[in-house]
This record gives sequence, C-alpha cells and structure tokens, in this order.
Amino acid sequence: MIHAHVTAWTIALILFVIALFLQKGGKQKGAKIVQMILRVFYLIIIATGIGLLSMVTNISVWYILKAVVGLWIIGLFEMILSRVINKRRTSVFWFQFVVAWVLVLYLGFVKLPMSIFHP
Ligand code: HEM
Repeated sequence: MIHAHVTAWTIALILFVIALFLQKGGKQKGAKIVQMILRVFYLIIIATGIGLLSMVTNISVWYILKAVVGLWIIGLFEMILSRVINKRRTSVFWFQFVVAWVLVLYLGFVKLPMSIFHP
C-alpha cells in the first residue's frame, strides 16, 4: 500500500510538470489530456492514503495533518494548472506548493512510522 501511494504521487508530480510544460509550449490539447490522466492519479493517491489510514489503529493528529496537507497539494496541482491555463498569477500558489511539499515529506518520511525504506 505504501509503495502504491508513493508511486502514485511520484507519477502525479511528473504528470503535473509535463502538463505545465505542454501548456507553456502552447500545446493546450496535450496539456488537457495529461491533466485528465493526472486527475485519475488524484483518486489513486486519495484511495491509497485512505488505505494506509485504515491500517492505523490510533490515528493521531499527525495523521490528520498528513492527510490534510496531501489534499492541499492536490488542490494546488489543480489551482496552479488552471491559473497557468488562464494566464493568471501563480506566485502565491507556488509559495504554498513549496511549503506544502516540505511539510508532507517531513510528515510522511520523518514523523510518521510507515516507510518504503524498511519492511
Ligand atoms: C500529493 C499528495 C500526497 C503526497 C505527496 C504524499 C506523500 C506521502 C509520503 C512522502 C509518505 C511517506 C512514505 C514513506 O514513509 O515511505 C506518505 C505516507 C502516507 N500518506 Fe500520503 N501523500 C499525499 C496524499 C495523501 C492523502 C490525500 C492521504 C490521506 C487521505 C495520505 C495519507 C498517508 C498515510 C496514512 C501515510 C502513512 C504515514 C506513515 O505512517 O508513515 N496521503 N504520503
């Protein structure tokens, strides 16, 4: 489950970057298709996240925070893409993007116990 989760958000991040570059390169149609695939990965991230949560007997506040920041990142993927498509300012959202990623990586890899690095 944890491998599926990590694989899902890694692929989502790659698809997000590809969609951004396609959009910036004027390839709207390609960007739209990649964005649709990206949305499927949101569902996989959330499903595997809930799957991981269901394995926890005592859900602490750190788990809640982890889930909220994960959802925040998905929101930011959508927000940034739509603002790039509509040629609106994205700086505030990029700032949030960096903060949210630092938080999620800290919570996921450092603070919370499950890990892809040990069985
Ligand atoms: C793009 C969004 C997300 C990212 C980047 C992300 C990232 C991560 C990372 C880095 C880990 C730790 C993996 C490891 O230690 O090997 C993790 C674990 C986990 N994630 Fe996510 N996640 C996201 C979304 C979600 C969502 C939406 C939920 C809940 C609905 C969720 C729930 C969990 C849970 C329960 C764990 C296990 C924590 C543990 O005990 O170590 N994640 N995630």
